[in-house]
Amino acid sequence: MKKTIRDFDFNDKTALVRVDFNVPLKDGVVTGDDRIIKAIPTIDYLIDNGAKVVLMSHLGRPKGEYKEDLSLEPVAKRASELLKKDVKFLPSKEVVDDEVVNQVKKLEKGQVALLENLRFVKGEEKNDKDFAKKLASLGDIFVNDAFGTAHRAHASNVGVTEFLPSCVGLLVEKEIKYFEDALKNPEKPFAAILGGSKVSDKIGVIENLLEKVDVLVIVGAMANTFLKSKGLEVGKSLVEDDKLDLAREIMTKAAKNHVEIILPRDVIVAPELSDDAKGTLKDVENVGQDDMILDIGRESLKDIERSLAKAKTVVLNGPCGVFEIEEFSHGTVALAKILAKLDATVIVGGGDSVAAVEKAGVADKLTHISTGGGASLEMLEGKKLPGIEAVEEA
Ligand code: 3PG
Repeated sequence: MKKTIRDFDFNDKTALVRVDFNVPLKDGVVTGDDRIIKAIPTIDYLIDNGAKVVLMSHLGRPKGEYKEDLSLEPVAKRASELLKKDVKFLPSKEVVDDEVVNQVKKLEKGQVALLENLRFVKGEEKNDKDFAKKLASLGDIFVNDAFGTAHRAHASNVGVTEFLPSCVGLLVEKEIKYFEDALKNPEKPFAAILGGSKVSDKIGVIENLLEKVDVLVIVGAMANTFLKSKGLEVGKSLVEDDKLDLAREIMTKAAKNHVEIILPRDVIVAPELSDDAKGTLKDVENVGQDDMILDIGRESLKDIERSLAKAKTVVLNGPCGVFEIEEFSHGTVALAKILAKLDATVIVGGGDSVAAVEKAGVADKLTHISTGGGASLEMLEGKKLPGIEAVEEA
């Protein structure tokens, strides 16, 4: 078990907090603030316990170069609004310089500051010791609350732990609770729903989950590869021809492990993928050479609903179709609504799935919506994440 913020006395201490404020921006305005909102409980806890708070994050992938459009300044503004308290932005192309050090020294109990985008400095992604030391010089205790970045070994989440006592924040603690603890000992029956475009992206997850789940639902373009491997026509659909053998192996292994695999029985097809394409419902046996599979149909949803009815733990990763286009979003939205009605622990990971449950308006009815994309995928693969591993054990 990792140390948490409850294991330290923050009174009059400077908490150096790694958050994941890698949020979408448009024309210098934050357009999605979920990750900021989810960091608030930790920041509030630190403020309430007498800390001075220095937040640090990356934004985008500037690759060690300063890029004005990737400055965290607009994020500081949005964070101030959400926290209802000034988040003092400390602009420096080097992230830490003498002026930043001075400003941090001047902070008083309960004040909050945000450093400039960590990835403006090459040393961040290289987990450079000197850069980590510079960051560490700003605080007394390091708090990692950036789950979305926990699968990266960077100076601000791994390097820094060499120089400061460390713990996880409330968000990372919660993510660990659901991804590690719940999945280690899931209440049964345990079902996983995997969607998205590629089998190759999810193979690590499938291999790990095949040892644990009772039901594996495969949807999205990933399912096309499985359907084709069973000899079915998938027309012009997205498919990985070099993964057909792998799909067969997975199905054989599932049978051996008594894992029920659910594949779509009916699908929505269109001649092409476009914003104004019209979908047609077809059984998977009737997909033609000119069809493109873009969503699942209602019989498939009934199969899924039946197979999940008794589930006590459910993991969702990946959409059922091209849910960004209204015409092909119905399967994904209907599935999210099915999940919301279950009497089960439902864990949702991956940017697309999170967007989908939000679109369906059921996010608040599900047990845990992860803030991690790549990080949640690696958790489902059963991997240890360097950003979490580096934190002190309790
Ligand atoms: C994310 O958005 O998944 C995290 O912030 C990590 O970003 P990265 O993939 O650029 O490291």
